[in-house]
Amino acid sequence: MLLSNICLVSNIIFLAFYPSNGASLKKVIVVFRHGDRSPIGTYKNDPYITEEYWPQGLLQLTQKGMYQEYNLGKFLKKRYMMNENLLNSTYKKSEIFVESTDTDRTLMSAQSVLNGLYPPVGNQIWRKGLDWQPIPVHTTTYDLILGDYECKALADAISETRKSKNFTETTKMYKKFINKINTNTGENYKTIEDISPFCDNAFCNSQHNNTLKWLSHEELEKCTDFVPAYDGWFQRGSEKKAKYGLGFFFANMSELFHNAKDHKIQRKLTLFSAHDTTIISFFYGLGAKFVAQPTYSSAVMTELWQDKNEWQIKLAYRTLSKDGKEIVKPVKVKGCSNSEFCSFDEFMKIIDKVKLTRDEYNDACVETEVKKLSVATIIAIVASIIICLLASFLVLSWLRRKSSPTPFYTAIHRGS
Ligand SMILES: *[C@@H]1O[C@H](CO)[C@@H](O)[C@H](O)[C@H]1NC(C)=O
Ligand SMILES: *[C@@H]1O[C@H](CO)[C@@H](O)[C@H](O)[C@H]1NC(C)=O
Ligand SMILES: *[C@@H]1O[C@H](CO)[C@@H](O)[C@H](O)[C@H]1NC(C)=O
Ligand SMILES: *[C@@H]1O[C@H](CO)[C@@H](O)[C@H](O)[C@H]1NC(C)=O
Repeated sequence: MLLSNICLVSNIIFLAFYPSNGASLKKVIVVFRHGDRSPIGTYKNDPYITEEYWPQGLLQLTQKGMYQEYNLGKFLKKRYMMNENLLNSTYKKSEIFVESTDTDRTLMSAQSVLNGLYPPVGNQIWRKGLDWQPIPVHTTTYDLILGDYECKALADAISETRKSKNFTETTKMYKKFINKINTNTGENYKTIEDISPFCDNAFCNSQHNNTLKWLSHEELEKCTDFVPAYDGWFQRGSEKKAKYGLGFFFANMSELFHNAKDHKIQRKLTLFSAHDTTIISFFYGLGAKFVAQPTYSSAVMTELWQDKNEWQIKLAYRTLSKDGKEIVKPVKVKGCSNSEFCSFDEFMKIIDKVKLTRDEYNDACVETEVKKLSVATIIAIVASIIICLLASFLVLSWLRRKSSPTPFYTAIHRGS
């Protein structure tokens, strides 16, 4: 249902996934999406723009979203404290590191997850009746690891897709739907890309029972399933896009796992609070073909296991069903010989291809000042040459005019 190439195997394998006969869990990296939020944007005839519907304005985590993330925290607690003895149930700074992109919804989501994961116990209870303790969530503006930057190579790859046959064909297939949306929204959307923010808005509202009379159930489903999945593919759906969109993350993951394997001291659980595009990039980076839109609070867990001298990587994906039920499935990666896990080396070979180095980033992503300067310098040089030539012509002509009454152009003509 979700991924075709990295296919998700049935729950039966999931049961066989835990009896960790001898193998022990050493390190986990989790990337998750924020919870239910208000829309990205609005449109001309949007009936649900007021504070009554979205009290915090656009792009903000809702109470429903907080609860989804809290449940994700409880899920992680069950999986990594109860089923596997990876973490102590008491919060220990040495065991966990949390990083979030610098947006309200992801920061708040990380805090909600931590509330589910680490309710204070014993002497960590600091205020009577409060089921919460402060735990740091690190962030940085333009977080490179989480792909929060502009990249020219990525923008170019997206432009190329925008010009592709696939894009025009898909737009053509959805022409009638786009027209209907235009008629009812008062907008003038032209392509499948253009209607994506409208679909996001309709989806967000549907999660809060704010319906649009003119949008049928089937049409709303296009907005919740196909349109966002297509948008994800459009934005991040190739190895190249995944590399330029999330390459520092792959490099970081490689380093964290190598460190864990080499017994360098580090945290056992690293949590990254991020976006649908982050999860989509992750899957496409691993070679997936067409990824369904990651639901709110979906999480992909990459686990490092040790079985005697053998090191293994296992992946699992947690999402929510349409009625909000938790679904957890192992992720099978194409290119790994075993159906249940990847050997350490196999996995590293796969993510090596999509790692991004600083130099590659500077080269392909940044339109650096130096590059801009060199263009500016060339223009300046050419301009000064032209000005110099003009000036000398003028001076020359003035001198000649002074010495002879012949017009300048004849002088040139005579001279050549
Ligand atoms: C968890 O931490 C507590 C407090 O530091 C310690 O007493 C306990 O032994 C730890 N539990 C495990 C299983 O390591
Ligand atoms: C566009 O590409 C996606 C992803 O490969 C594919 O699933 C879809 O069928 C293609 N659509 C068309 C109209 O070619
Ligand atoms: C939407 O309606 C359903 C069914 O009546 C209800 O269970 C749910 O709580 C409502 N959701 C919101 C956000 O109001
Ligand atoms: C990997 O990410 C962690 C958390 O942000 C950071 O402490 C570490 O320096 C990063 N390493 C690399 C090589 O980016």
